[in-house]
Amino acid sequence: MKILIVGSGGREHAIAWSVAKSPKVEKIYCAPGNAGIEEYAECVKIGAMEFDKLADFAQEKGIDLTIIGMDDPLVGGVVDVFEARGLKVFGPRKNAAILEGSKAFSKDLMKKYNIPTAAYENFDDAQKALEYLRTQAKFPIVLKADGLALGKGVLICETLADAEAGVKEIMEDKKFGSAGNTMVIEEFMTGREVSVLSFVDGKTIKPMTSAQDHKRAGDGDTGLNTGGMGTFSPSPFYTEEVDAFCKKYIYQATVDAMAAEGRPFTGIIFFGLMLTPEGPKVLEYNARFGDPEAQVVLPRMKNDIIEVMEACVEGKLEDVDLQFEDNAAVCVVLASDGYPVKYEKGIPMYGFENFKDKEGYYCFHAGTAKKDGQFVTNGGRVLGITAKGNDLKEARKNAYAATEWITFANKYMRHDIGKAIDEA
Ligand code: AMP
Ligand code: GLY
Repeated sequence: MKILIVGSGGREHAIAWSVAKSPKVEKIYCAPGNAGIEEYAECVKIGAMEFDKLADFAQEKGIDLTIIGMDDPLVGGVVDVFEARGLKVFGPRKNAAILEGSKAFSKDLMKKYNIPTAAYENFDDAQKALEYLRTQAKFPIVLKADGLALGKGVLICETLADAEAGVKEIMEDKKFGSAGNTMVIEEFMTGREVSVLSFVDGKTIKPMTSAQDHKRAGDGDTGLNTGGMGTFSPSPFYTEEVDAFCKKYIYQATVDAMAAEGRPFTGIIFFGLMLTPEGPKVLEYNARFGDPEAQVVLPRMKNDIIEVMEACVEGKLEDVDLQFEDNAAVCVVLASDGYPVKYEKGIPMYGFENFKDKEGYYCFHAGTAKKDGQFVTNGGRVLGITAKGNDLKEARKNAYAATEWITFANKYMRHDIGKAIDEA
């Protein structure tokens, strides 16, 4: 088979690595890809939002399956463009990707179908949002821009004054652009966060092993929100009891709700969960693999990813026995110092040869480029260093050891990825 992967981050590198293992695959292309993905795929200079160019390319090259890694093209309807041309594509259509594309939509869906989530109200008028906030007695309170905002459209407001300023930022100053035309105001929840990614074929859902992200830039969960500074899998807090609850009230319920709405979901649903004192609740849905969740989940998956994805596209997921290794993985993101605000790019990086032939160690590229044959930094999140181990502690030890194998002048990382393991 010939495969096209759309995207350019660490997530797409992990997908490309997984696809390359499939005996069914003969050639991989990635648009636009990055310097690391080139190890497995021919990278082509087409942007993820250039839907017609992507479909032209898929037609020209006789691509058998296109895998969309990123949220923006999914929410923008790239799958519909491919399907209209009779091209096989893995990911939700536009009318289903709205599960991630509109938080107001997803909250209304959960309310209508009794899927546990934080209490909320939606607003498309700043004045009404302010009036509502003034009737609220419980702080902190959470404001969310409705649309995609690079994971940054969520404000946790400690006081009424903070919340008023937040409404201004989101709805009036349009800090997140049109994503803030509508806003969700919701109850603040407490508890452990867990991510569960799942394969979905429109009616059947098969959850993958659990993971936990670290969204803040600094040690001890301080500093600004980022795309994710590291992950571990599985989460020791995702117990059998939690799993049973989520299977009963959240996973299948979400898939059934989407089908009932005439929006059957095919692809990946990423459940962002909060394990609250009252039980697990949905924080958010994403319509694609997480980044860097994919970098710890995919290395532990035993199945041929192409077989699973084809089963999703063909509505035959029920027949798949999804299996994960009985071990653990930790991913530590190496970032450019200053991320997520301001940072230098183009810095030379050394040490990649250390990963060669090292079973259970992975160096996934996120923001890198190649200049005169030399890898250089090309983004805020630069690399995801993943290592497996028999258990979480061993995986963490291995991952941190491997972070030392790579050097670059402005290398920055968190030193407490997976610290929660010690509290389990
Ligand atoms: P989201 O993009 O919805 O996952 O939000 C980003 C982050 O904000 C989450 O990972 C949580 O840490 C936090 N968050 C979002 N909603 C809530 C909530 N209702 N209560 C507490 N924290 C929240
Ligand atoms: N790591 C969080 C995300 O991919 O949205």
